[in-house]
Amino acid sequence: MYQNAYPIGVLDSGIGGLTVVRQLQRLLPGEDILYYGDSANCPYGNRSEDEIFALTLKMLRFLESRQVKCVAIACNTISTLTDRLRPHCPFPLISIVESSADYIVREKLKRVGLIATEFTVKTDVYNQRVHAQDPDCEIISKGSPNLAALIDRGDFNQSAINEEITECVDVILAKAPVEHLLLACTHFPIVSENFRACFPQLALIDPAEQQAESVKNLLVYRQLSNPQIRGKLTVCTSGETEVYEAVSKRLGLYGPASCEAVPLE
Ligand code: DGL
Repeated sequence: MYQNAYPIGVLDSGIGGLTVVRQLQRLLPGEDILYYGDSANCPYGNRSEDEIFALTLKMLRFLESRQVKCVAIACNTISTLTDRLRPHCPFPLISIVESSADYIVREKLKRVGLIATEFTVKTDVYNQRVHAQDPDCEIISKGSPNLAALIDRGDFNQSAINEEITECVDVILAKAPVEHLLLACTHFPIVSENFRACFPQLALIDPAEQQAESVKNLLVYRQLSNPQIRGKLTVCTSGETEVYEAVSKRLGLYGPASCEAVPLE
């Protein structure tokens, strides 16, 4: 079956999943990681469900061809389709939505603001999963049509990013006085300083931390951990590799050891 030395696969619509890589490297430093980011087709958040499903299947086939032992679906937008994707994969899929919704319930949070792509917000999956476990917890959501795309271009134009953040979070705060804000799009923790500067009173939740915990639990449970001391990161993308190098530095990642341009076929 799956070998301990195989890498953990991580996929995302673009660079956002590097925020999950950051948490995986912190928690599981011995693991090799194979990352695929579909920057050529980013943003996914403004696409149809069938388009997202078809593109994701291609990424999964690629990761499968490189022999991974599990795949962390870093992208929240893609994670909303986890149940539909699971029957197509021979390896376990770890959904970032499931991990972070369960965290909200465990922490007994009763009112949480959530900013994500428009697609994620429309599917209502966070609400559904949280409410199934705690009907008293309220999730107040707002979708952003622009923020992920701005970040994926590596365009850290502070005023454009701050404007988009302020516009979305103001909508949430106008509905309810939340104290916690879930950054439910992997791209958003890359600009967490911008969120902090605009809304210093809010406690930010980065779902990447919970997803890394879920990956660790899975590997331990299935006895699939890699015993080596330091793993390597390999990044593949359908887009420009330079942005991945730059964002990896910005996030303080170890590596990437290599950054390959691989078209999505
Ligand atoms: N990274 C994706 C997420 O976490 C969003 C970016 C996109 O729209 O492609 O939802």
